Amino acid sequence: MLSAELNPHADFAFVGDSKMPGKVTVSLIKADVGSIAGHSRPHPKMMEAASSVLAKGVKDGLLNDYYVTRCGDDIQLLMTHTKGENNKQIHELSWNAFMSAAGEAKKMHLYAAGQDLLSDAFSGNVRGQGPGAAEMEFEERPTEPMLVFMADKCGPSAYSLPVSKIFMDPFTTTGLVIDPRAHLGYDIEVVDVVDHKKVLMSSPAELYDILALLGDTTRYAVKRVLHRTLGLAATISTEKLNILAGKYVGKDDPVMLVRCQSGFPAVGEVLQPFAFPQLVAGWMRGSHYGAWYPCGVNESDPSYHDGPPRVCALGIQITDGKIQGAEPPGSKPGDHSPVDYFAGKEWDLVRNKAMEISIYMRGHGPFMPGIVSPEDLEYTTRPEVLKKLEPRMKPLD
Ligand code: F6R
Ligand code: MG
Ligand code: MG
Repeated sequence: MLSAELNPHADFAFVGDSKMPGKVTVSLIKADVGSIAGHSRPHPKMMEAASSVLAKGVKDGLLNDYYVTRCGDDIQLLMTHTKGENNKQIHELSWNAFMSAAGEAKKMHLYAAGQDLLSDAFSGNVRGQGPGAAEMEFEERPTEPMLVFMADKCGPSAYSLPVSKIFMDPFTTTGLVIDPRAHLGYDIEVVDVVDHKKVLMSSPAELYDILALLGDTTRYAVKRVLHRTLGLAATISTEKLNILAGKYVGKDDPVMLVRCQSGFPAVGEVLQPFAFPQLVAGWMRGSHYGAWYPCGVNESDPSYHDGPPRVCALGIQITDGKIQGAEPPGSKPGDHSPVDYFAGKEWDLVRNKAMEISIYMRGHGPFMPGIVSPEDLEYTTRPEVLKKLEPRMKPLD
């Protein structure tokens, strides 16, 4: 607990002040298990199938609450429980929810049914089996605002730039300068998604070193952000699906959870960097650079060259271990109305810019930088082309 003079909002509480005994875990687990007319959106029946499995999870006492949503062709399972991160039962429940949704997709002969479920049987943890997961366990504050980010058609490092701005850039988050609690800085866990290594680094002390790694979006990504006294601030799914499968099976389409306010960045500080339509790798065939397009969930169907890559942001409260949105309090588990932050008109300007940039990038056709570097192409014919040309290849004069 921070001292009173460090707390300009003394009526707001910090980690350790929770009314709820024990900790809550928020698990956000996602997978693409099929969609309508290409890689667009899951059928409502698939969402219903996933919801019924999670509803049973509540009945069986595994979950406190849940919300099933989507971004583009990915189904997102947002769950609260008290079982901690990487819990086998919670991961198995999610696996079963995706299997059930994939079953519906198969019945309707939808496209890519079961795509991200890389094995026939659950092996103990969804990580490494196809789905992506962002999970955080923490002691609930008396008021616990949270942002849930979901992206489609892009890789796990897509969040690195906005996260760097949110937690390390005082020109984005004025709170880093003027809020004594934020002024303490953050620790950033950076993962090497290729060699499966991680390192915890301190901002602002190691800011330039952190950026020296994160700037290479082909290899490094932020996994977690920790506040020195308030605990976990953000967590991101960093599973690199194409590498896991050893062959192309889909995009990584990462998710992120961010705790906000009262010493953590304000909701507005977290959303602000998304006004820059950064180029992210992914998009069509996971092989192009396109400009990130912030939008509401209902607007997240890819429509231009299977994109452009989308990002959605939902606002919720975690209340006594459950999800609270704009729905009446005490609504039944699963029934929630989060704030759909990027649905508003103020983001039209960014969307228009993102479209303009994406159309410009398409002007490159199959040339770099319109397409990603050869090692990052998720589809390639280069080995065969080179093999065919081998007898005709001559040394340079
Ligand atoms: C999938 C995706 C799409 C596909 C593309 C080709 O998440 O982003 O861009 O890569 O539609 O798909 P296939 O090879 O299934 O015809
Ligand atoms: Mg897909
Ligand atoms: Mg997707």
